[in-house]
Amino acid sequence: MIPITDPRIEHYLQDLRPAPHPIQAEMEQLAAEQGFPIIGPEVATLLAILVATSDARTVFELGSGFGYSAWWIARALPQDGVVHCTELDEGNIARGRDFLERAGLTERVKWHHGSALAALAQHQGHLDMILCDIDKEDYPAALSAALPRLAPGGLFVCDNTLWYGRVADPAEQDAATRGVRQLNQMIKDEPTLESVLVPLRDGLTVARRRDARHGAR
Ligand code: DHB
Ligand code: MG
Repeated sequence: MIPITDPRIEHYLQDLRPAPHPIQAEMEQLAAEQGFPIIGPEVATLLAILVATSDARTVFELGSGFGYSAWWIARALPQDGVVHCTELDEGNIARGRDFLERAGLTERVKWHHGSALAALAQHQGHLDMILCDIDKEDYPAALSAALPRLAPGGLFVCDNTLWYGRVADPAEQDAATRGVRQLNQMIKDEPTLESVLVPLRDGLTVARRRDARHGAR
């Protein structure tokens, strides 16, 4: 595996973290106890800034776990904004509902139990942001499904696009690594997107659907 960030830099970033909100701290402790892969506070803060600065109203999450990223997104949304959450595990949904209820954010969060891509297919209308964090072998299908749903100027944000550094090692040929690699290539080849892969934590891709105003450049 190829380390993405030197451990000394990781520690330095950790030292710069502000004190967590009590609900955030609870969620991070649960993730640590269960070994559950949350995006963590740095990626989450970047996500919240993207939601706020893009004036996103409707966000769709592919893979929500117990609502860690949804908590950050919901806080960054306007009063009438909605984050759609998708999750296969009912226990995770119950825990997520409880966290977001106690945070006073229930009205901005809608949970869908079952396949993330099936829920996306049923959603009507354009989305201002789609966050992708499902099984990595499904990443290419997720991008194909997400692209036509993205509003002009909308953001496709994808976690784990460096996948433990495996994407950069040709010897790694498992299905998950190939899925992430294929997604990264699809984004590179997609003329309607402007994108950057931020090497934060496990890699976060931020891709924006071009609109007429910021059209082909
Ligand atoms: C894993 C999955 C994730 O979505 C993540 O952010 C980190 C790790 C995993 O399955 O190992
Ligand atoms: Mg992830």
